[in-house]
Amino acid sequence: MAMDTPGLTPLFDAEGKFIWSTLEYNGHKVYPFPNIKNKLDSYMKSFPVLDDDIYLLTYSKSGSHWLFEIVMMLTRGSADHRKETTAQNMLEFWFDPEAKQNGERRVMVTHLQLSIMPPDILNNSSGKFIQIHRNPADVAVSFFHHLTNKITDGGGHLTHDWTPFINEIFCDRDKMTQPTWWDYTSEWWTEFKDKPNYLPVFYEELKESPAKVVGEIAEFLQVGADQKLVEEIAKQVSFDRMSEGKRKNEKLGPGFRKGFSFYRKGIVGDWKTQFTKEQHEQFMKHHNQELRNQPELHQRFIQYLQP
Ligand code: A3P
Repeated sequence: MAMDTPGLTPLFDAEGKFIWSTLEYNGHKVYPFPNIKNKLDSYMKSFPVLDDDIYLLTYSKSGSHWLFEIVMMLTRGSADHRKETTAQNMLEFWFDPEAKQNGERRVMVTHLQLSIMPPDILNNSSGKFIQIHRNPADVAVSFFHHLTNKITDGGGHLTHDWTPFINEIFCDRDKMTQPTWWDYTSEWWTEFKDKPNYLPVFYEELKESPAKVVGEIAEFLQVGADQKLVEEIAKQVSFDRMSEGKRKNEKLGPGFRKGFSFYRKGIVGDWKTQFTKEQHEQFMKHHNQELRNQPELHQRFIQYLQP
């Protein structure tokens, strides 16, 4: 990932062991994709938006690849698996805003928090914003496994221990490589939840009722998909179907272990296999405190966070 990313700050734990490197842009943490600073510098000055642009807002490990696959199928009107990778359409990574679209609608994926979204995109009132949300305990576990499959980050070996990761890093805005889940989620939710061009999608609901949620996305995007296509897409994006095809083809950034896949387990509640009782209690204290001003969001997630 970040081996040639300029401006990285290495972070060490209390015993002086390298944790990972962080990167800031305009005072905000960003995922250290190579070249992200240049990309954002250029996007902040101007970004050539199109009226029918689609922006997929995702916190890492919340189901970005899953949502991208669904939206690509819907915009193409076909339940065939796409050839391109999510990374190619990642706004702050490989996306090329000047590339010809060959008549296709542009779909961009981004992990950026609201505060550093390029203003032209935020002002694109005819563009559509879809955000996938996933409960933070499953995100933490998925993120941890992502991390254990990275070999190096910015010139050092990463910590691969669950306990410091969950006790000291994931909830700490100084140590996370990106905004914490709570900062990221609250900020977007506060500003966007009532906008007509914003659709929140919940990982757990998508898992439970894929055809219903795919149908809602289709309607929001006004792609004119009939029920047969919606159901076929829901079938084709099941975890089993996606992991079959994609494991072989997904192009990864440098620094991942061989055999790593973005499709690991794809279930709700995997955190129960990883958290100790004490870790869960601690986590919930933090969660309740961080979402104290977001009752609606808190209510949405609480059922997935019960032991
Ligand atoms: P787990 O690590 O819990 O399995 P992202 O794409 O944002 O990196 O998120 C990756 C997470 O989404 C992984 O979670 C992955 O397994 C899960 N995922 C990917 N495709 C999925 C699908 N079709 N159904 C359910 N979960 C999926």
